Amino acid sequence: MINEGIVNVSYIIATILFILALGGLSNQETARRGNWYGIIGMTIALLATIFGEVTAQYDKLIVALLVGGSVGLVLARRVQMTQMPELVAILHSLVGLAAVAVGFANFMDPGRLTHYVGVELTIHDIETYIGVLIGAVTFSGSVIAFGKLSGRISGNPLILPARHWLNLLLLLGSIYYGYEFVVQSVEGGGLTPLMIMTVLALLFGIHMVMAIGGADMPVVVSMLNSYSGWAASATGFMLGNDLLIVTGALVGSSGAILSYIMCRAMNRRFLAVIAGGFGTGGGASAAAGGEDQGEVVPVDSSESASLLANAKEVMIIPGYGMAVAQAQHIVHEITTALREKGVNVRFGIHPVAGRMPGHMNVLLAEAKVPYDIVFEMDEINEDFPDVDVSVIIGANDIVNPSALTDPDSPIAGMPVLECWKGKVSIVLKRSMATGYAGVQNPLFFLDNTRMLFGDAKESLDAVFKAL
Ligand code: TAP
Repeated sequence: MINEGIVNVSYIIATILFILALGGLSNQETARRGNWYGIIGMTIALLATIFGEVTAQYDKLIVALLVGGSVGLVLARRVQMTQMPELVAILHSLVGLAAVAVGFANFMDPGRLTHYVGVELTIHDIETYIGVLIGAVTFSGSVIAFGKLSGRISGNPLILPARHWLNLLLLLGSIYYGYEFVVQSVEGGGLTPLMIMTVLALLFGIHMVMAIGGADMPVVVSMLNSYSGWAASATGFMLGNDLLIVTGALVGSSGAILSYIMCRAMNRRFLAVIAGGFGTGGGASAAAGGEDQGEVVPVDSSESASLLANAKEVMIIPGYGMAVAQAQHIVHEITTALREKGVNVRFGIHPVAGRMPGHMNVLLAEAKVPYDIVFEMDEINEDFPDVDVSVIIGANDIVNPSALTDPDSPIAGMPVLECWKGKVSIVLKRSMATGYAGVQNPLFFLDNTRMLFGDAKESLDAVFKAL
């Protein structure tokens, strides 16, 4: 056992480390350091809690830590980079479940009625009720998000008749049972309204995410991330644990900011996302085609290599297909070879390229592509008229000009990388299949676009040999 003062100091240090971690993660150069701050902060927080707050039953705690820790370790080691959003979604569901479990345990604690009286009891009950409410919504919403992202549930939005009324009814029900809960709790009851509200909140979480279409799923994942933070924060209030309150608030607010950034990147309004019903079945590519838009011009690897070798300005635009093909290493080798020839190679990264925030940056960092040639969309979108060759590696929606020209497109209004303004675009993909949003891409049919068909890694291996 360590004394309360040491616990408090440890919590303050952990909080500072968490803030430094978030700061570090905002930039690629400092992201690794940021991760370490987070790891050290969490270790300190865990040790302070285990040796400061817990007083008995260490055997059960250790067994639980071992089981949870090993499951987490195995899952994290096994997960493919492309399955990361699914893993994140299912982990959020666990935060929600934990908040529900802690809420019920807290409520059923026999010491509750002796420890809290009068207004304090009411405040404590409201904290418990809100914690369980947010936790249950996070839990069921995240499970559905996991199902949608992994293709187990259709990405199509489920639009029930009168769905907004249904949501309103669930909200009013939760408020009514909240009142009942607080009133009954003073007299020693309250379990029934708490349980009814839990069921309502679970239904709300399912209904909310089921109504959201595939194209909006990136926002949903970061929104659930934010909810999981608020659930943890509410748990902190229940348990009177300051560190949990602060950490939850950090996760909650950074998730909310990320949701806002994602909405802006996709030109969606946050409320419109929550109201749902947008986008087609995501994940699985729709079958070839769509309407006939003319002929495409295929190229082979040696032609692509000579286009690149003769260019002065090259822009590489990676997308989800680069992650699938694991082509980032060969991309780095080609980049190095071109730079040695004096070609100015840059990378243009769309904020929602791939399947999770920062997906492309992580892959490029893994392949050791220098950070100073990797640019955000906003930084380089004006430069395309001066680009000789754009290489689009397994990207589709993020370079779709119809986002700007077709108001009926599911991605209408989403800012895209305007590579067609350059001299030539080489698109690497396996077929004419659509991308995540399920819409055909007019870029492929333009006169200055060349299609290099095949798996991105195999195509680039061949291009590298030809170079
Ligand atoms: P997509 O539009 O999904 O296009 C990816 C393309 O890669 C597909 O058209 C596919 O065509 C090709 N591809 C797949 N495997 C390949 C391989 N092995 N080799 C070569 N090409 C391959 O991806 P994007 O352009 O990166 O856009 C991202 C989309 O995902 C956006 O709609 C975005 O809203 C959505 N989304 C983003 C996130 C985040 S947070 N980034 C999360 C969820 C959803 P073929 O099948 O013909 O090869």
